[in-house]
Amino acid sequence: TGAFTYDPGFTSTAACESAITYIDGDQGILLHRGYPIDQLAEHSTFMEVAYLLLNGELPTADEHQKFVYTISRHTMLHEQLATFYRGFRRDAHPMAIMCGVVGALSAFYHDSTDITDPKQRMIASHRLIAKMPTIAAMAYKYSIGQPFMYPQNDLSYTGNFLRMTFGVPAENYEVNPVVEQAMRRIFILHADHEQNASTSTVRLAGSSGANPFACIAAGIACLWGPAHGGANEAALNMLREIGRPERIPEFIGRAKDKDDPFRLMGFGHRVYKNFDPRAKVMKATAEAVLNELGVTDPIFDVARELEQIALKDDYFVEKKLYPNVDFYSGVILSAIGFPTSMFTALFALARTVGWVAQWNEMISDPEQKIGRPRQLYTGSAQRDYVPVDQR
Ligand code: CMC
Repeated sequence: TGAFTYDPGFTSTAACESAITYIDGDQGILLHRGYPIDQLAEHSTFMEVAYLLLNGELPTADEHQKFVYTISRHTMLHEQLATFYRGFRRDAHPMAIMCGVVGALSAFYHDSTDITDPKQRMIASHRLIAKMPTIAAMAYKYSIGQPFMYPQNDLSYTGNFLRMTFGVPAENYEVNPVVEQAMRRIFILHADHEQNASTSTVRLAGSSGANPFACIAAGIACLWGPAHGGANEAALNMLREIGRPERIPEFIGRAKDKDDPFRLMGFGHRVYKNFDPRAKVMKATAEAVLNELGVTDPIFDVARELEQIALKDDYFVEKKLYPNVDFYSGVILSAIGFPTSMFTALFALARTVGWVAQWNEMISDPEQKIGRPRQLYTGSAQRDYVPVDQR
């Protein structure tokens, strides 16, 4: 009973107040704590953006140095967790491993599960931000049978991650500055995005008082889907399936066909109906990386041409479907050498910053209550139980 507003997909329901991220989907504007995403992607570091999202202001030089030091103190994983990895099949999807390992952190850092203490909440947030690159890199190393690499704390956040992923203990790993710069941008562009599905999931899980590691594991599970974070993997798989520019019209035709469930992955967005400001930066970064690495792969020609054709096609113009952040990120990650199965894991790594910032904001809010949506019941009216021999 009761009159509830029916809003499937929450297209017009504000579930919280938030001072972290602002989006104007019609204008293609994305601000973090008031700062435009393109300025952050151009000039900032990922640690600075993490500090900004968590604390509300850009750090001073001193605060920045302290924050970087603090994060670096938490980059290692409990050694016992290496055993946990070894329980997975070698061909396990990295997102399956991420859900498991991040949830399992609750069992290793008991002090950080006390959500009533703001200091512990911040330590949990730092731990999650610091450990995510180690967790993602270990998932990759496990899949290819190479030894796990310990973090090296004198490298940047991204440099350390690249070394743990592509380095081996027997050799020195030189971080390519163009690749490091591209990763920094990808991380910044994915850091937060208002009340998207995974962030809403983190908030909903957190609203019951669940510990932060459990909440972030829930966010990772939600992010995995192809309509959300899984779109970068799906977009690259789609480009590979298309294979050559001549086949693009066939796939555009399928995307427009109402009887075919196929969609152009990496196109369209719930909020952006003009362009995705992240996609603009991502496209420029993709060009820089492809030039630097001299990578030639037909999928990059397919991506460029697909974008051109779709942007001129009436169907995509009318429905305001533009390339989103996931369309180009896959191209960059593939050129750098990541297998497609790692793409969404990298998204999770970066989005952890936004998740913990949003989680902290929610828990600190005195108005916070457990999230509990209502429903419009469509089942049968009350009826009496019928014993099985009379059915
Ligand atoms: N290809 C073909 N048609 C599409 C596409 C697409 N990629 N996206 C939307 N449409 C059509 C859809 O069929 C619908 O048509 P109609 O009104 O005739 O039924 C119309 O456009 C509106 O789509 P919708 O599904 O109602 O819109 P939504 O806001 O619920 O969905 C979306 C947004 C991102 C889930 C959707 O555009 C999509 O599935 N895109 C492909 C997956 C993707 O790239 N996701 C990444 C999003 S950005 C990063 C992130 O969130 O992680």
